[in-house]
Amino acid sequence: MGSAEGAAIESMRTPGPGPILEGETRRRRTFAIISHPDAGKTTLTEKLLLYGGAIHLAGTVKARRAARQVTSDWMELERERGISVTSSVLQFEYAGLRVNLLDTPGHEDFSEDTFRTLVAADSAVMLLDNRKGVEERTRQLFDVCRRRRMPIFTFVNKCDRAGTDPLQLLSDVEAELGFQCAPVTWPVYRDGVFSGVYHRRLRHVILFARRGDHGASRADSEVVRLEGSALDDELGSATARRLHEEVSLLDGAGHPFDAAAVLAGDQSPVYFGSALTNFGVEPFLEDYLSLAPPPAARLSSRGPVDPTDPRFSAFVFKIQANMDPRHRDRVAFLRICSGRFVPGMEVRVARSGRPVRLAAPQQFLGRERVAVDEAWPGDVVGILDRGHLRIGDTLAEGDVEFSGIPRFPPQHFARVYPADPLRRKQLDAGLRALSEEGAAQVFFADGDSSAMPILGAVGLLQFDVMRFRLEHEYGAACRLERIGLGHPRWITGPEPAIERAARQPGRLRVFDTRGDSLLLFESEFALQWALDHEPELTFAELAP
Ligand code: G4P
Repeated sequence: MGSAEGAAIESMRTPGPGPILEGETRRRRTFAIISHPDAGKTTLTEKLLLYGGAIHLAGTVKARRAARQVTSDWMELERERGISVTSSVLQFEYAGLRVNLLDTPGHEDFSEDTFRTLVAADSAVMLLDNRKGVEERTRQLFDVCRRRRMPIFTFVNKCDRAGTDPLQLLSDVEAELGFQCAPVTWPVYRDGVFSGVYHRRLRHVILFARRGDHGASRADSEVVRLEGSALDDELGSATARRLHEEVSLLDGAGHPFDAAAVLAGDQSPVYFGSALTNFGVEPFLEDYLSLAPPPAARLSSRGPVDPTDPRFSAFVFKIQANMDPRHRDRVAFLRICSGRFVPGMEVRVARSGRPVRLAAPQQFLGRERVAVDEAWPGDVVGILDRGHLRIGDTLAEGDVEFSGIPRFPPQHFARVYPADPLRRKQLDAGLRALSEEGAAQVFFADGDSSAMPILGAVGLLQFDVMRFRLEHEYGAACRLERIGLGHPRWITGPEPAIERAARQPGRLRVFDTRGDSLLLFESEFALQWALDHEPELTFAELAP
């Protein structure tokens, strides 16, 4: 290593540009909500914005979305299917904290964007339906958080209607996910009606009153101490007695709260509430934000980069093409990791060594774009990109590169055929662009790139989006033919053994755009058989 390089690294590590950067970093909370469709993510998001003062009446985000869909032809598909395909970043201030909520697509179908967004978050809120507990999508997203050892906070939603007994629910969650649940709030039912939450640390009950506007505005609340007669007066002695019993059971048998275990992702603080009626939302938000970590150091090619390092660094976790139909632009979303962002600053793309000027930065509230005059670690800014940036790119002042964003294994595969064979060139160009943007994973069977490419998708809707975009943005209408194989594994080992494995019936060997090899299987069982019987090969779920 040359001395200039050594000095550059040293300066990347030099701590402390001063109190402003440290203060701004410390007050950032950047998180995403993970849930299964219908658990109430849209509703909870809206209520967080309501309590964060970013909107004044809930219902407006949904309504605005609907209004926008009439005027915007961006993703006609969204309108046709009545869904949100894009994800955005919602920002609000709460109790002196600057909160960045990374919003992920809320539809039952989803794409790699959802996974990647988690890489840009510092913590996650796992939202559960009180009747259903951990569902499939939650599980998949949880796995990504767990792999990153991300703190996970749990909100049990829909407590306004009967659900699984809370103790049973938590024990199911613990068994399913293999981590500890430590309730911070506990639901209080008066005559079977959800009336409030008991806050275990503060040892008081917060009782809520419905406002009769279907939760559009904040719920009125009243705080009553657990000890004392006021609780009996409010709840009736039978309910108060039951609550006392539950509290002693929790205090005696539950896991004690352990801040270190929470930060390591081994214990999850749990909150109960109802996003619909707003009951329990504010106690959750308050406590969650006080416990959730601010941005931490990120691992890079040069060791950990501390967020308070004065030199700017960020990575691209999402690229969205054509957000504004009038301009046909591409927006790259940057998660800032260190230093201060100012418009017009010049940084270096680590992959290519190219300098880029970060012009026209924007932040988003829903679809509203807001010009940014500065941003700090933990923030996300969208910058206009002329096609130079890729998912995972590091942009920094100085010589630093964050490790790439993992590529998540597609669940579905389809061969793509141009509707007009003479437009194969347009199709290839479109596929290349979508693949660079991270909107598609493209594979070729048997390394023969002249054969029809195979598209991989994490969710089926992704195929519709790709087909739509290939046609409308690249002039390459196409037909997709699903392949009845899946369960992909990136495969490494001696080439003859790989070839032997690939020749077996019910399998297909494909290559990704980097030339790495995957095997597709006809069933989970067939995959399991390979894992058990082909020890000379390594089967990896994530790309090498
Ligand atoms: P998602 O984004 O996770 O898919 O869920 P979303 O918020 O759209 O909520 C899914 C359904 O669950 C909605 O009902 C919503 O009103 C309901 N819901 C959300 N939170 C609560 C809650 O705390 N309690 C109860 N009881 N229901 C809740 P919907 O009938 O599908 O739609 P809508 O007509 O109410 O919008």
